[in-house]
Amino acid sequence: MQADLDRILFDEATIHRRLDALAAKISQDYRNRELTVIAVLNGSVILLADLLRRIPLPLRLDFISVSSYDGAESRGELVFRQISRLDVSGRHVLLLDDILDSGLTLATIREKLATTEPASIRICVLLEKEKTRVRPVEPDYIGFRIADEFVVGYGLDFKERYRNLPCIGVLRKDLIAATGG
Ligand code: IMP
Ligand code: MG
Repeated sequence: MQADLDRILFDEATIHRRLDALAAKISQDYRNRELTVIAVLNGSVILLADLLRRIPLPLRLDFISVSSYDGAESRGELVFRQISRLDVSGRHVLLLDDILDSGLTLATIREKLATTEPASIRICVLLEKEKTRVRPVEPDYIGFRIADEFVVGYGLDFKERYRNLPCIGVLRKDLIAATGG
């Protein structure tokens, strides 16, 4: 799988060190409140497992499943496949996703959650792409900022592959082109 990468951006040890710092900050910020984590499937699962085990606080966990991507291209519209069943009204919600790209996913989910009147909504992403967003989103917790390139690994996929790579890297352009995006 690593041979399919143009280059590695963050190796496993670097990611884990960053998660130590992020988890410490989140634990400090929520020390007197019960946290409700809503994770966006499927990209956030590896991050979720590694991050939450570093947060020694009582918390509730639920999932939302959406899709906007087909290969390496966003289709520009969002389909909800599964919606959180937890009652989040009056709760402190932390939305967790793998990457902030166009902003469409997180802006739409945040809007939907806001209608149920949580006490607060914050956003945590492992990666933030530096680019102009379709919808404005300012995450409260960011693992790393990256250039506008298509990346895979550590939960991030290309056509559902590469999620199990322990590192994050830029996918070779010829592979994206060969499969028609
Ligand atoms: P957005 O709605 O455009 O912000 O895209 C968010 C979703 O698109 C993420 O949750 C990812 O699943 C997917 N995505 C965006 N950029 C990448 C990438 O570089 N690699 C893999 N998935 C990506
Ligand atoms: Mg994805």
